Amino acid sequence: MVIFLNGNYVAEDTQISYNDRGIQFGDGVYEVVRVYEGKLFTAEEHFERLVRSTQEIAIESPYSLSEYIEICNTLIERNDIHNGTIYVQVTRGDAIRNHAYPKDVKPNVLLYTNSVERPVNEIQSGIPVITAEDFRWLRCDIKSLNLLGNIMNKQKAVEQGAKECIQIRNGIVTEGASSNVYIVKDGKIMTHPANNFILNGITRRVIQQIAAHENIPFEEVTFDASTLKAADEVFISSTTQEVMPVVSIDGTLINQGNVGPVVKQLQSQFEATIHQLHG
Ligand code: PDD
Repeated sequence: MVIFLNGNYVAEDTQISYNDRGIQFGDGVYEVVRVYEGKLFTAEEHFERLVRSTQEIAIESPYSLSEYIEICNTLIERNDIHNGTIYVQVTRGDAIRNHAYPKDVKPNVLLYTNSVERPVNEIQSGIPVITAEDFRWLRCDIKSLNLLGNIMNKQKAVEQGAKECIQIRNGIVTEGASSNVYIVKDGKIMTHPANNFILNGITRRVIQQIAAHENIPFEEVTFDASTLKAADEVFISSTTQEVMPVVSIDGTLINQGNVGPVVKQLQSQFEATIHQLHG
């Protein structure tokens, strides 16, 4: 396998410096882009978000949108990726440890591929999740490398035999440890507004478009944990999890443990969106 590092396609055991600000401070941002049957899915949207994330922390992205896409396509071809993901990371660069932004530093850019199949069984049967306090920082809109809050909450889920942790800040449901969260109530989809408390998911935007196309009301509103557990249907979304039904929360069954009709409708339209890539 080859990886891309700072302009070169190199072997995967290529080393990066201990002075990388990503290692020492988590001073960088990332993206995960999906590949279906060798084709990039919503890549422009991901790289637009990457550039926005870099701007929010005053890193100048060294590549344009089209350059990132070209790098991805080269990696897909050279690593012979059919179904998988591309991980993209931009850090501020290498500098002697000092908290403030160093001057004249060059960003480190890393891209690599993973072969990953779609989670088809879970998409059909749904997953159990837990809830926990959202104790992350207040700029969750930046796709930052600092993921301690996210990984600590994901670990709680795993330890309780669940697949995701839905996070709750001041009584309000924000998002999953690595996904956006939605409820369906009386035929309406509801999800947290895309502000600083959540990541504005690319899959979330695809779902929003599908909902508009299907005439399903889509409301960006806040709701609390009891509304979550009393919902008709609950689902999460992400680049890797797609439209993933939630069938139990902290042991409480949702829709008697079955995948509901609105989620099924979104899933079938999502499937159609993926297939349009090859059409
Ligand atoms: N995570 N919220 C958080 C906190 C996330 O980490 C993610 C994605 C999402 C969904 O965003 P998108 O639909 O653009 O993938 C929401 C990626 C997949 C990850 O960290 O692996």
